[in-house]
Amino acid sequence: MKTQVCIIGGGPSGLLLSQLLHRKGIDSIVLERKTKDYVLGRIRAGILEKGMLHLMREAGVGERMDREGFVHEGTVISYGDEQFTVNFKDTIGETVMVYGQTEVTRDLYAAREAAGGQIVFNVDQVVIHGADSDAPFVTYDVDGDPQRIDCDYVAGCDGFHGVSRQTIPLDVRKEYEKVYPFGWLGILSETPPVHEELIYASSERGFALCSMRNDNLSRYYIQCSLSDSPDDWTDEAFWEELKRRIPSDAADRLVTGPSIEKSIAPLRSFVTEPMRWGRLFLCGDAAHIVPPTGAKGLNTAASDIHYLYHGLTQFYHEGDSAGLDGYSEKALARIWKAERFSWWMTSLLHRFPDQSEFDLKMQRAEIEFLRTNKAAQQAMAENYVGLPY
Ligand code: APR
Ligand code: PHB
Repeated sequence: MKTQVCIIGGGPSGLLLSQLLHRKGIDSIVLERKTKDYVLGRIRAGILEKGMLHLMREAGVGERMDREGFVHEGTVISYGDEQFTVNFKDTIGETVMVYGQTEVTRDLYAAREAAGGQIVFNVDQVVIHGADSDAPFVTYDVDGDPQRIDCDYVAGCDGFHGVSRQTIPLDVRKEYEKVYPFGWLGILSETPPVHEELIYASSERGFALCSMRNDNLSRYYIQCSLSDSPDDWTDEAFWEELKRRIPSDAADRLVTGPSIEKSIAPLRSFVTEPMRWGRLFLCGDAAHIVPPTGAKGLNTAASDIHYLYHGLTQFYHEGDSAGLDGYSEKALARIWKAERFSWWMTSLLHRFPDQSEFDLKMQRAEIEFLRTNKAAQQAMAENYVGLPY
């Protein structure tokens, strides 16, 4: 087989890139390790920045998002029983949208299938050959049958555990990582959200987050030990701990119910440089990871896809490779700012095992400064709704 762009990974990054390229007449094939149902079964965050909203609409898949998504004008930050709102709309005239990543992925799959897009599921043994040559190709197995795709370019959209980043030689790659000493225990429950917008809660017992997917599907998280497992937490224990960490008025009105999903995610900050090697381009989680506190995971994948989509379009339509040549530097410039914000939000709101009394006072003062200073709220708002592409 031959295609212009071979995309490894059928998550949101790979699907969005494939759909955007298709609308510019650029051919791609998506190789996905799992099944479509498995990909759609992943529970991920649901906050979309304005840049992602624009890309979804440009890809022709924004209709259900605009119909079913919830526009949020701000978020609540709480410290024990004290709480305040950072109002993005009042502060900088911007908003975010709540629309589950599962729905984003579902809409992208539907669009690719409607357009006859080529997506190969259950691929195995994917290997990228000749990424640093002018004739790259990708080999893989399906049902034990060896396959080969010759292409002009390879987009590595295969996430943190994929093969793309590993294809770049160690003497070319430089990796930066920070692993946080705690995880997030998250549950999904068919209950009405405790508040119409999100509550990011800091407390002496640790962090908590109250989020949602729709009027009767709520998503809650509590900071937990890395030694915990979901089975260590009954629903009852989860709800009781959540109530201890959020403001009492929210705890009083919290509607609890059985969890329909319960999982623990570790938190890390990670970036690999460069995000390009020859004709291989890394996008999304294949190149970088953020702690979920700033809701930047999908949104940083989106800006990578924006830069790569425009670079490929400029090349195929105008024969100009400037966008491709500038991809890594441009993508990393925005990624590092999102890494900073995600690290800042995580440092601000979580309890760290080695915190001294002074550290706790600094954390408290940082939250109090955010509560009382408009410039601080503007800075948070600008980062949360998404810095410019
Ligand atoms: N071959 C083919 N597919 C692969 C391989 C491989 N060797 N390795 C991984 N994949 C697939 C995974 O099964 C997954 O479906 O690549 C896809 C990568 O998708 P994501 O991990 O969702 O990464 P990305 O598309 O960049 O989306 C980033 O997803 O993980 C969240 O928080 C993250 O919100 C962010 C978003
Ligand atoms: C979620 O709804 O899952 C969510 C929202 C905001 C975050 C992280 C997760 O910062």
